[in-house]
Amino acid sequence: MERTVVHITLFGLLLSLASTLPNKDDWDIYSFHINSTVTSRYATTVITSRVANRMDESKEIEFHVRIPRNAFISKFRMFIDGQVYDGVVKAKEQAQQQYTEAVSRGESAGLVSSVGRTLEEFKTSVTVAAHKKVTFELTYEELMKRTHGKYELQIHARPMQPVSDFKVDVHIQEEAGISFINVKGGLSTKALANAITKTHIDKEAWVYFYPTVNQQKMCDSCSDQGMNGDLVIVYDVNRDNGLGHIKKSDGYFVHHFAPSDLPRIPKNVVFVIDQSGSMHGRKILQTRTALIHILNDLAEDDHFGLITFDGNVFHWKRELVQANSKNLESAKNFASNIQARGSTDINEAVLQGARMLNDHSREGSASILILLTDGDPTSGVTNLEKIQSNVRQAIAGKFPLYCLGFGFDVDFKFLEKMSLQNNGVARRIYDDSDADLQLKGFYEEVATPLLTDVTMIYVGGTNLTQTNFSQYYNGSEIVVAGEITDNNIETFTPQVVAISVRMDSQYSSLVIFLNLSDDRIQRVWAYLTVKQLLDKELQLSGPEKEKVKKEALELSLKYSFVTPLTSMVVTKPLGETTDVLHKPKEGERSQTRLPSRGYSILRKPTGARRLRPDLPGDMYEHMCIFWISGSGVIKHILEKKSEYFLFTRNVLTLCTSVSLAPVLHRFLLKAENQTVPLCFDVSGPVRLKLLHYPSRELSVNGELDSVTNGGFSRIFIHVSDSQHVEIDTNWVTVRDGQTVTYYTGQDHLTAGSVTVIVHNNEIDVATGDMRMVIIVHEKNGQKFLWPVLRQRPLDNNAEGLLAVEAAVYEEVQQAPVRKLKIKNQEADVTGEMVVDYSFASPVTMICWLMSADSALQRPLSQFVITQL
Ligand SMILES: *[C@@H]1O[C@H](CO)[C@@H](O)[C@H](O)[C@H]1NC(C)=O
Ligand SMILES: *[C@@H]1O[C@H](CO)[C@@H](O)[C@H](O)[C@H]1NC(C)=O
Ligand SMILES: *[C@@H]1O[C@H](CO)[C@@H](O)[C@H](O)[C@H]1NC(C)=O
Ligand SMILES: *[C@@H]1O[C@H](CO)[C@@H](O)[C@H](O)[C@H]1NC(C)=O
Ligand SMILES: *[C@@H]1O[C@H](CO)[C@@H](O)[C@H](O)[C@H]1NC(C)=O
Ligand SMILES: *[C@@H]1O[C@H](CO)[C@@H](O)[C@H](O)[C@H]1NC(C)=O
Repeated sequence: MERTVVHITLFGLLLSLASTLPNKDDWDIYSFHINSTVTSRYATTVITSRVANRMDESKEIEFHVRIPRNAFISKFRMFIDGQVYDGVVKAKEQAQQQYTEAVSRGESAGLVSSVGRTLEEFKTSVTVAAHKKVTFELTYEELMKRTHGKYELQIHARPMQPVSDFKVDVHIQEEAGISFINVKGGLSTKALANAITKTHIDKEAWVYFYPTVNQQKMCDSCSDQGMNGDLVIVYDVNRDNGLGHIKKSDGYFVHHFAPSDLPRIPKNVVFVIDQSGSMHGRKILQTRTALIHILNDLAEDDHFGLITFDGNVFHWKRELVQANSKNLESAKNFASNIQARGSTDINEAVLQGARMLNDHSREGSASILILLTDGDPTSGVTNLEKIQSNVRQAIAGKFPLYCLGFGFDVDFKFLEKMSLQNNGVARRIYDDSDADLQLKGFYEEVATPLLTDVTMIYVGGTNLTQTNFSQYYNGSEIVVAGEITDNNIETFTPQVVAISVRMDSQYSSLVIFLNLSDDRIQRVWAYLTVKQLLDKELQLSGPEKEKVKKEALELSLKYSFVTPLTSMVVTKPLGETTDVLHKPKEGERSQTRLPSRGYSILRKPTGARRLRPDLPGDMYEHMCIFWISGSGVIKHILEKKSEYFLFTRNVLTLCTSVSLAPVLHRFLLKAENQTVPLCFDVSGPVRLKLLHYPSRELSVNGELDSVTNGGFSRIFIHVSDSQHVEIDTNWVTVRDGQTVTYYTGQDHLTAGSVTVIVHNNEIDVATGDMRMVIIVHEKNGQKFLWPVLRQRPLDNNAEGLLAVEAAVYEEVQQAPVRKLKIKNQEADVTGEMVVDYSFASPVTMICWLMSADSALQRPLSQFVITQL
């Protein structure tokens, strides 16, 4: 069949792209990727944003992202016109000076510092010449913190416009095994829910988030400006309740300790509540609500006290009382009548709270003092240092003080210092509709003490991070990192000594050492050390403070962390208005690019035709692709034995020979919560219906060939009568009506409703509310395709192999033949290995192999088609 072929040249393709892409302000973010890898609870996230200046003049292009405040930025780079501009982490003063000098010389230099509280902003910009592109790449690192029995990896996505190539890839690896994983956050709701794919296999989990352009505009937290919200990956790891896991690598170790099988320790808790005038309105209402919830959660053997204060201090009762129902009723009554008025005497209130706890020493209990305030001290003692020293004296290290700062009128630094000085932490409560939940959430973190006076001992360890913890709460985790002296594991003996209700607990057995071969353990150590030094610096003054500060600065610089003491200096190109494109260097040849899978723009030569040369035997089918002759091309192709070429009038034809002998391809049917998935074999060559939506024209078909034992050789996506995307292991062809584009991935391509993006080994096809990634794998030198549906269309009437849900099975017999029961039908199975190709780096696992008909619960022939 002859088709009319329209010539697409490089110039033509770019023009057509420019006109079909959303053109927000003159420049276009054509790709935005977030890639997060979590290993041993240490997360490294890379944000890559690619932006093109579509204008005929140079433009200032901005890169503006938000990262979790607990993270340290560790790398920033810009790629402009083949040049790499690396950000450099410098001491803050030095960076400031360089910045000021550059500005005074009329140069521009970026300066990025750590700012803000919730998420931090990273912002820089660069001038990009007409029709040029820039790639921004930002890396940040953070140690996952366990609270409420889980870790939360927060990913904030706000690319500032809908982006056709937008994706988030998360990969979590935990040696101890992942016990559960969920995806939450504004971006996981309604319209976007089907853009999320989650896979969990024992020690590893993957979350992919691939929303289409339309979805990026229509979800709850989205607008014409695209998405603006969070994706939160929530997970926990398996625990054996011993000493926990110690991982080591290159002489460094990190110890995660989080036993949960201990009895709770009864607690004595005193709440000191600010009821000054500034708490008036919603704040006081929320405080009352939270207090009542918290009181409801107290256990009968807990003892508690309640103090409110403004310029005066009011006791509900002067002494702590038991949390029995009578006392709780009375306390709730008191709590619901708290009124806001007057000034703020923090000093007296906290001292009264401390006195109550000091007067109430009880064997085998854990005392906790919690202060809630929304303002600065305004009456009584108001000198901050004096208050701190009074409080320190009153508490004398006997119990932790937690300070909750409500809103932004508090002197948070003052609260932070005061809590740190007393073994506690300060937390900001955001003045928002959920403030009562934030208060309750904080309380729950400390609600169940399991151990007190925890001392972590590491004989044979040095440069340890914090080892003494006044209390350990259920759902949290103690993390200690350090160096192993002389990297000698023989003499390294970890031990935990702590007080529990049962007895003085001594954990000294059950250590699992995991040897890891990357520098992450060292980075965990550096991260924790810097964090703790910064906390320590806050508490000190004079020469001691300077010493600690210097230490923190040196480590920040060594590990390239952007901390409050350092800055990232981004130096930009100078004189970029000079466009050297039209000035080829001496000896430079005309640019014919290598046809390495899909990376160059194809020019289809005039008069060229598709050839099918006759070769002996029926065992071969031949596919030929036209190519313009060029030395680079030939050299490259000659390396491939299975391919040969013909020359006709300056046109090189690349042909691939394909054997037609049957080959087995193994398919996997994965279901959530199934430890062993089902699998079945399909013998090629065969053409299969992968996906078909009868309610629309969308269909996807694939061809299994007879050479590659792995996956598909060709996949065709029919979007409508006139729009088709044809993918094979070398090329992507997009047919849009009469226009045929041999698409090669230098840029992404939008044709009608289809967007095609080619990455190194992934072809991303989006149309309407469907997004599919075709991964290109290579095995024994043979390439093949594997389709993965990243986003299912909303209609649930899909047919095809990819739409089949894994059947629920029951194991009915193990020997002599293993039998599974699926919907009252028994089937013989064997345990076999299968490679899950739905990951870019394939994962090998065990599966129950059965016939395709049983696994699919219908005859395979229903999926066989004749035409791709
Ligand atoms: C994400 O980052 C990891 C670690 O740097 C890398 O191995 C992986 O290839 C990246 N994935 C993507 C999709 O870029
Ligand atoms: C601690 O938390 C675990 C679950 O995370 C729970 O099973 C256990 O009962 C809790 N312990 C106490 C004393 O509440
Ligand atoms: C680690 O400790 C040793 C002494 O035990 C000391 O010489 C070394 O400087 C320390 N390293 C760091 C990075 O603090
Ligand atoms: C930790 O606690 C132990 C015993 O309670 C004590 O001997 C040691 O000095 C403490 N270490 C630090 C750094 O406070
Ligand atoms: C870890 O490394 C130590 C020595 O470096 C070795 O003795 C031990 O066998 C290794 N453990 C594992 C599980 O590989
Ligand atoms: C998997 O297990 C979790 C928790 O046990 C449950 O909430 C979820 O519904 C299960 N999923 C399926 C598909 O059965």
